[in-house]
Amino acid sequence: MRILILGSGAREHAIARALAAEGHDLVVAPGNAGIAALARLEPVDAADPGEATRLALRLGAELVVVGPEAPLVAGVADALRAQGVPVFGPDADAARIEGSKAFAKRIMAAAGVPTGRSVDVLTADGLDAALDDLGAPYVVKADGLAAGKGVLVTEDRAAARAHALQWLASGPVLLEQFLPGREVSLFFICDGTTALPLSPAQDYKRLGDGDAGPNTGGMGAYSPLSWLTDRHGGEAEFCDRVRRTIAEPVVSRLAEEGTPFVGLLYCGLVVNGDDVDVIEFNARFGDPETQVVLPRLASPLAPLLRDAALGVLDPGGSPAFTPEAAVGVVLASAGYPGASAPGAPVDGLADAEALEGVHVDHAATAEEGDGLVATGGRVLTVVATGGSLQEARDRAYAGVDRIRMPGEQHRTDIAADPR
Ligand code: GLY
Repeated sequence: MRILILGSGAREHAIARALAAEGHDLVVAPGNAGIAALARLEPVDAADPGEATRLALRLGAELVVVGPEAPLVAGVADALRAQGVPVFGPDADAARIEGSKAFAKRIMAAAGVPTGRSVDVLTADGLDAALDDLGAPYVVKADGLAAGKGVLVTEDRAAARAHALQWLASGPVLLEQFLPGREVSLFFICDGTTALPLSPAQDYKRLGDGDAGPNTGGMGAYSPLSWLTDRHGGEAEFCDRVRRTIAEPVVSRLAEEGTPFVGLLYCGLVVNGDDVDVIEFNARFGDPETQVVLPRLASPLAPLLRDAALGVLDPGGSPAFTPEAAVGVVLASAGYPGASAPGAPVDGLADAEALEGVHVDHAATAEEGDGLVATGGRVLTVVATGGSLQEARDRAYAGVDRIRMPGEQHRTDIAADPR
């Protein structure tokens, strides 16, 4: 099948890796230096509906997979569907489940999905009353897309207030009840009516070890989560519960509202004992969770994505996973998540990939001369699989040790404490 993937990160590299292993003809726009080893790259702005559609038609793409959220919110999937191109990714209206926190809360309330209480704050006048109402720890979220910078969780009321005022300058904010527990990412492949679960993963959102430092796009991940699924009767049972109580009600509600969800519904959950609540939805594969979930996928990926795009998923066809574990460690540039100076040379990837079970997904790299340079904040995800979580973790960090990039930052505790 000829498949066009839109995006340029490690998530898109992981998707391309899985599809290339199935023998598909891949084009990625715009891609990166690592993806270029698996696919033809096209220098197209993936978030421009006109450019993306012209490219898909020129290629005769039989499936388009939209990686990041920005093209979805910009209407790239709408434009492709209008031209009859099968696309894995929701229309802009359905992508509001990620693009507007207030929209997501309204859908959850209408669908009876468990989540924390929240207050919409439209102007500075309502802010203090909302802070009083919800109390500490304060959870402040920009309503719209904010590239991972819109969320602040803090005990410090002044900091919460300042963050809210900063984001109120460009739109509404949401104050949310703090929900204690451990975060879990569970993805569902959706065709507008059916939702099929992948395997749960855990993401590490803070920059530093022990969850210190600022929020990031994600500094590492692992899958599966035995600490979680043992408690909930097994992975199939946990996924089935989330499917029945969260994914299906949301997909049904979106369909009832005339905005069917076709694509990847990312359920960001918080698990506390037996309680499972939603903290956020995303409308696309998570990054870096995809880098550890897809290497464990035993079912072919392309038919799942295409069946979803065509609205013909088999409700009984939940994908199968290997019992292997996978661990991914993100290597970021100096300065990330603040302004990072691009251009650092990146060496040692071949040495890392020579290790058993190790591969490297590129997020922001370009070729320069004979070598590679970093071109952004998150640069690589070093991924390893193994027969146990410990083996996968040991392999991943052995891979990290072989990579050299001046100023590079990574966490040393990914999958160290699976509990
Ligand atoms: N890992 C978090 C995200 O993809 O949004």
